[in-house]
Amino acid sequence: MNLYETIGARRDTRREFTGEPLPDDVLTRVLEAAHAAPSVGLSQPWDFVLVRSPGTLAAFREHVVLERDTFAASLSGERARTFDRIKVEGIRESGLGVVVGYDPSRGGPAVLGRHAIADAGLYSVCLAIQNLWLAATAEGLGVGWVSFYREEFLRDLVGFPAHVRPVAWLCLGAIAERPEVPDLERAGWRRRTPLSTALHAERYSPR
Ligand SMILES: Cc1cc2nc3c(=O)[nH]c(=O)nc-3n(C[C@H](O)[C@H](O)[C@H](O)COP(=O)(O)O)c2cc1C
Repeated sequence: MNLYETIGARRDTRREFTGEPLPDDVLTRVLEAAHAAPSVGLSQPWDFVLVRSPGTLAAFREHVVLERDTFAASLSGERARTFDRIKVEGIRESGLGVVVGYDPSRGGPAVLGRHAIADAGLYSVCLAIQNLWLAATAEGLGVGWVSFYREEFLRDLVGFPAHVRPVAWLCLGAIAERPEVPDLERAGWRRRTPLSTALHAERYSPR
């Protein structure tokens, strides 16, 4: 796949994990791709915790199930019925969680380019995640980003110190197939919009 094909093929994966273990060299390539991401002031402010322990996977999933219920309780009518059909994680099925953390102290105290925009560190971590996601896609693997959790819970679960912010739990693993259409679109939750809905010329124009 060339880069554009990889970008087009990337999907958030929840249902399709096979649970087959990943060869070490493939996992290393995917993590090296994440670690090669651009970062503000070359701070490389990310950490990756690999979680395979069935006990930890189960504990995280239990927490996510409760958070799913919390969100579900905020919905009513058609939204509630549609959400009911949507799977929001593949934590146990993937067999591997990559917990991504943001360490704002990395590369400090003077991080070049972050003095006016504190979030630039966080943006850098998201770029590492995107690199990981695309590399995994190129390797034929699936990635599912899980954000149905409280940050304190995940920080404690994987032992991040207080200053390290959990940014993502990524389910990473072999998949049986990669759907062409996003799961939320297939479920009728939301449809992708064309580029024209986000494109402006010279100045922002409200719609
Ligand atoms: C920051 C972020 C958080 C997300 N959290 C979840 C999640 O908790 N559960 C889930 O099923 N998908 C999650 N997703 C995946 C999105 O639902 C998905 O990217 C979107 O529907 C588009 O589908 P695609 O990634 O297959 O193109 C998340 C994606 C991002 C970027």
